[in-house]
Amino acid sequence: MSKELELIFKRRSIRKYTGEKVSAEMVENLLKAAMAAPSACAKDPFRFIVMDDPAVRATIAELLPNGPFLKDAPLGIMVLGDLDAAHMNNESYLLQDCSAAVENILLAAEAQGLGACLLGVHPRQERIVKIREYFKLPEHILPISIIAVGHPAEHKEPRSRFNPDYVKYNTWE
Ligand SMILES: Cc1cc2nc3c(=O)[nH]c(=O)nc-3n(C[C@H](O)[C@H](O)[C@H](O)COP(=O)(O)O)c2cc1C
Repeated sequence: MSKELELIFKRRSIRKYTGEKVSAEMVENLLKAAMAAPSACAKDPFRFIVMDDPAVRATIAELLPNGPFLKDAPLGIMVLGDLDAAHMNNESYLLQDCSAAVENILLAAEAQGLGACLLGVHPRQERIVKIREYFKLPEHILPISIIAVGHPAEHKEPRSRFNPDYVKYNTWE
């Protein structure tokens, strides 16, 4: 495995965290990495809600069926998209831009020795509705996903799920 690409393979979904806080500097680095992501026509439609209040994280963890570990994480970052800002006001562009921002956050977490895991929100309507209600989101703001972040209390081996069957060269046949 090449040394230069190690960071990518080391990034794994980490769902157990120590109690240690994530420093303000680290949080800012995560957000800077997110906003360095590619974005169609550089419209940067991604928006973020930093959840550093344990009460907020606990409530969201209860609202989402997939979120119990968010309660134990010292930090949550929700990635949202602004349809009014997206290229051509298009949801697909918005989703692609936000996905790139999410991956940058996950890699920046790994680079800083943190562990992180995504909690899916979009496209599950029941989850979108709950998040929308709780944060009183305007109609043009779409919650995409939540990233739980903390100092890791579990270790996972680096890996790629490389499968040569997924790859074709120069043709689909
Ligand atoms: C769109 C998306 C939604 C996900 N939602 C959840 C989730 O709700 N809960 C969870 O524990 N993991 C979630 N994951 C993490 C995946 O389960 C994880 O990335 C996958 O099993 C591969 O493992 P790895 O991240 O360690 O490589 C999500 C990942 C993606 C890309």
